[in-house]
Amino acid sequence: MQRVYLDNSATTPVDPRVVEAMLPFLTEKFGNPSSVHFYGQEARAAVDRARREVAALINARPNEIVFLSGGTEANNLAIRGVAESSAEHGRHVITSQIEHSSTRGVCDQLERRGYEVARLPVYEDGVVRVEDVRAALRPDTVLVSVMLANNEIGTVQPVAEIGALVAEERARGRKHLKLHTDAVQAAGRMTVDAQALGCDLLSLSAHKLNAPKGVGALYVRRSTRLSPQSIGGHQERGRRAGTEAVPSIVAFGRAAQLAREELGERVAHTRSLRDYFESGVEARVSGVVFNGDRARRLPHLSNVSFRFVEGEGLLINLDMQGVAVSTGSACSSGSLEPSPVIRALGRDDELARGSIRFSLGKDTTREEIDYVLEVLPRAVENLRRLSPLYQKANAGGWGLGVRG
Ligand SMILES: Cc1ncc(COP(=O)(O)O)c(C=O)c1O
Repeated sequence: MQRVYLDNSATTPVDPRVVEAMLPFLTEKFGNPSSVHFYGQEARAAVDRARREVAALINARPNEIVFLSGGTEANNLAIRGVAESSAEHGRHVITSQIEHSSTRGVCDQLERRGYEVARLPVYEDGVVRVEDVRAALRPDTVLVSVMLANNEIGTVQPVAEIGALVAEERARGRKHLKLHTDAVQAAGRMTVDAQALGCDLLSLSAHKLNAPKGVGALYVRRSTRLSPQSIGGHQERGRRAGTEAVPSIVAFGRAAQLAREELGERVAHTRSLRDYFESGVEARVSGVVFNGDRARRLPHLSNVSFRFVEGEGLLINLDMQGVAVSTGSACSSGSLEPSPVIRALGRDDELARGSIRFSLGKDTTREEIDYVLEVLPRAVENLRRLSPLYQKANAGGWGLGVRG
């Protein structure tokens, strides 16, 4: 059976060049970077090299990069770290309704601890409005956390404009106001420039850019106060205690270097295949709705709702034919909860439950997309045949079905 992996927003395959770079650090170069001897210094130099590469990917200084276990930990450290360290100045946080569950989880926890959280809407296009951020700002706001690109629909948020607003507010005396952005999905798929964005903190995860899982970074702008969440060691300038995951950090560094060098190529490749895929879907399947602004979006991702189809059912059907995709809906207590992100677009439950995320990678081929375009219309048609609602709508002359 042919296998096609279209779930690169969940994770990416590790690039063989990245594996090659990390291998010596699993074998002969096994030192602890804190050790004074040769082995330690060799590991320290490798971590420092990786730090320079990750910094270069986002136009930061190497000493502003904190290595940690991934995007989830980066979001935890950024949000809780700022909220705790600036509690004396205020306990108000602004975020959006479409953040990753790690950001949502920390904000919910802060609320339970007595903080106030404003969750901004995103409207039908899946984009936060800068004016809403301005309106939500209060004298006691200490943090704005808005992701750079969404993981389900790929919409790119106006973080640079929010950064300009935050700078304006700081110039007017709100010195303690900080801006965090989750750039986990954006890195390697669009230009991410911490200076141009004007953010104080920025989260990254290596496994979204063809490096292994379990390593990531938080960019922390110089002189940003942050309560460490892991203490008891001097590593990472005291911001994240614990022996560094040297092989994974080396891999992350190499992947960051490749992502920077190959960004233009990767963007052009995934965008052209994604657009080819979407045209094919539009030509072959009726009753489809594309979710999220189609211009202001990451190049590798397409989120589609199929009317009269449960996303979960379609996912399983495609999986049986070797095609790996994902849905935003989650199965809880036996019922499918529609994706909160698709719901935030104002979509009804049926469309929210019928949404599927197709996310391409740098190595996805046109032949793979052709295979998906062959099996997808049949899978949709088969599921619709089983849907009483579809039968009823079709009898009523909706005329939904497979085209061509
Ligand atoms: C937008 C976003 N933020 C954070 C994360 C979490 O990253 P990690 O898997 O490295 O913990 C993800 C992963 O899916 C993500 O898509």
